[in-house]
Amino acid sequence: MLKDKFVVLGVTGGIAAYKSVELVRLLKKSGAQVQVIMTKSGCEFVTPLTFQVLSQNPVITDMFKEPPRWEVEHVALADKADIFLIAPATANVIAKMAAGIADDMLTTTLLATKAKIIVVPSMNVNMYENPITQRNIATLRKFGIFVLEPEEGDLACGYSGKGRFPEPRIIVEHIKVILGKDGDLKDKRFLITAGPTREPIDPVRFITNHSSGKMGYALAEKAIQRGARVILISGPTNLTPPIGLEEFICINTAEEMYNAVMKYYADVDVVIKSAAVADYAPEEIKHKKIKKQGLNLTLELKKNPDILQELGNKKETQVLIGFAAETDNVTANAQDKLKRKNLDFIVVNDLTEAGAGFAGDTNIVKILHRDGRIESLPKMLKRDLANEILDRVLLYLQ
Ligand SMILES: Cc1cc2nc3c(=O)[nH]c(=O)nc-3n(C[C@H](O)[C@H](O)[C@H](O)COP(=O)(O)O)c2cc1C
Repeated sequence: MLKDKFVVLGVTGGIAAYKSVELVRLLKKSGAQVQVIMTKSGCEFVTPLTFQVLSQNPVITDMFKEPPRWEVEHVALADKADIFLIAPATANVIAKMAAGIADDMLTTTLLATKAKIIVVPSMNVNMYENPITQRNIATLRKFGIFVLEPEEGDLACGYSGKGRFPEPRIIVEHIKVILGKDGDLKDKRFLITAGPTREPIDPVRFITNHSSGKMGYALAEKAIQRGARVILISGPTNLTPPIGLEEFICINTAEEMYNAVMKYYADVDVVIKSAAVADYAPEEIKHKKIKKQGLNLTLELKKNPDILQELGNKKETQVLIGFAAETDNVTANAQDKLKRKNLDFIVVNDLTEAGAGFAGDTNIVKILHRDGRIESLPKMLKRDLANEILDRVLLYLQ
C-alpha cells in the first residue's frame, strides 16, 4: 500500500525522536519514499545525518538555506506529499499548527499541503492532559487532521500516564488505514467472523477446533485498508485485532456467535463467515468438574444453530461468503454447502494439502461461485488471499 507513496515526515523536539528512526526504516521497507524535515529542537535529539542515511534523502532543517534543487522547497514538498506525518509531535508544534503559525520549514510546509496529515503526539502526561493541548488537538481534528492517541505507560520523563509514542509498526498500520480510506471498498460495511468457538463441557474443559483466526483477521485488515467499515466477531485467538475496526466483538460459544451475527447482519453490505463454528455443543454444561471414573465417558451433544443457513434464508441484497474446510469430496461438499446456504461464493480449503487450512500463514483454496464457476488459486499468504477474496466480493457488490 505504501509502495512509491511520498511520505513527508516532520520530526520535532521530543524525546521520542529516536523512535522515528525506526519509523523511517519501516516506511522505506514498505516501499515509500521518505523526506524528513526536522525542527531546530528536533536536531537536538537525533542528528539529521541518521535520518538522511535511513531515508536516503537530504534532511531539511533550515528554511533559508539554499535548496538542493531549485524549486520553492516548502511548496514543492507540500504538493508532492501523499501523506504528511508529524512524529513525534511536540505540544509546541501542535499549538503552532492549531494557530496556523508558519515560522520554520516544517510548519510552513504543513500549512501549504493538501495531503492527509497524521500527528503523533508524544509528551509528558501533564503536558498532554493540559486543557490547552487538548483544545489544540480538538482544533486539529476539527480541520480533518488525524491525531493518534498516545499510549499509556511509563514515560521518559519519569512520570506514568498517557503520552507515550506508539510502536512505529502501529503508526505504519494507521497510515495504511488512512491512505486506504478512499479505496475501492469505501463506505461498504462488512461483517467478518473469525477464529474457533469454545463449547464448555464443565468449568475446566471445552470442545474447540484448530482455527487460528488468521484468515478472518487478514480479511478484516485488508478490507479496512481498502476503505471498508468492518465489524469483526471473533472467537478466542492469539491475534491482535487490526487497526481501524468499527467494532470488535469477542465471543466464546457458537450461541454467542449466533447472537452477535444476528445483531449486526441486517445493517451490513457483506458478510464473510470465516469462523470455524462448532456444529455441536454438550447437551448439558456440568457446573462442577467431571471426575475421572470408569473406562469410558459419554458426552451427549446437541446441534448448534446454523448461522450461515439462517443468513442465507434471510438474505436480500447482501453479499454472503462462506468458508469450508474439507478432508474428502472437497469440491462436491463445498458445492452442496454453497447451494444449501444460498451463498454468492464459497472459499474451500482441502485440509489434506500441505500449506492449506488452519494455523499456518498460507492457504491453498478453490473458490466456487454461485454460477457454477470454479477457480483454483495457487498457494499464497493469507494476507494476499484476503485481497483476492475481496476482489471477488467487489464484483458481486457492483
Ligand atoms: C530533554 C527534553 C525532552 C523533551 N521532550 C519533549 C517531549 O517529549 N514532548 C514535547 O512536547 N516537548 C518536549 N520537550 C520540549 C520541546 O523540546 C520544546 O517545547 C521545543 O520548543 C519544541 O520545539 P519544536 O516543536 O519546534 O520541535 C523536551 C525538552 C527537553 C529539553
